[in-house]
Amino acid sequence: MGFYDIENNVEKYIDMARGFDGRELIEILKKHVPEGLSVLELGMGPGVDLEILSGFYDVTGSDNSKIFLDRFRNSHPDSKLIKVDIKNIKSNSKYDCIYSNKVLHHLTDDELKESLSQQKNILSSNGILFHAFWRGKDVEEMEGLLFNYHLAEDLKNIIGDMFEILEIESYKEMEENDSLYVVLRNTDDR
Ligand SMILES: C[S@@+](CC[C@H](N)C(=O)[O-])C[C@H]1O[C@@H](n2cnc3c(N)ncnc32)[C@H](O)[C@@H]1O
Repeated sequence: MGFYDIENNVEKYIDMARGFDGRELIEILKKHVPEGLSVLELGMGPGVDLEILSGFYDVTGSDNSKIFLDRFRNSHPDSKLIKVDIKNIKSNSKYDCIYSNKVLHHLTDDELKESLSQQKNILSSNGILFHAFWRGKDVEEMEGLLFNYHLAEDLKNIIGDMFEILEIESYKEMEENDSLYVVLRNTDDR
């Protein structure tokens, strides 16, 4: 059972994350992904970003926590939601964009590499990946949850030649440069 399979942990996260959202990240995403295209969000959690994304895109939300999915489904019965584990991504659909905000830091470097390769399989050709991470050098575990911080250079090594890197930039979530986002493009010839 994972951390977010416990109701109390989900409620604590919702309280802690109140007031934060990916609005500024989504403004950057809009420069790369035209409105109306399909976007899969990984690790949607409470679904705050999914709601913002739904104003511009044909969105599908996902998480591996049934509690998060059920909560969002209850308040948004018409939403498209699927249960996806970022360590084992399978889908019959292809998406023009895959987005996540503070999710993939729960993976080791090797798992992240494998997850990116699985994402490539469900991304349309020339599709875009947009992922936000906590920035730093440490790897730590808190209450059974892995926090694998990244710097631009180590992310570039993990991405290798799987994708074209369009942007890789630091930004502020709570403190100056505590976060990093990457925008990657799928290419047919890689
Ligand atoms: C820090 S929360 C971020 C939630 C949301 N993206 C946000 O910005 O508020 C991490 C999210 O990743 C999800 N998650 C963690 N491990 C996962 C996995 N292996 N597969 C899919 N989702 C996972 C959690 O359930 C949780 O919703």
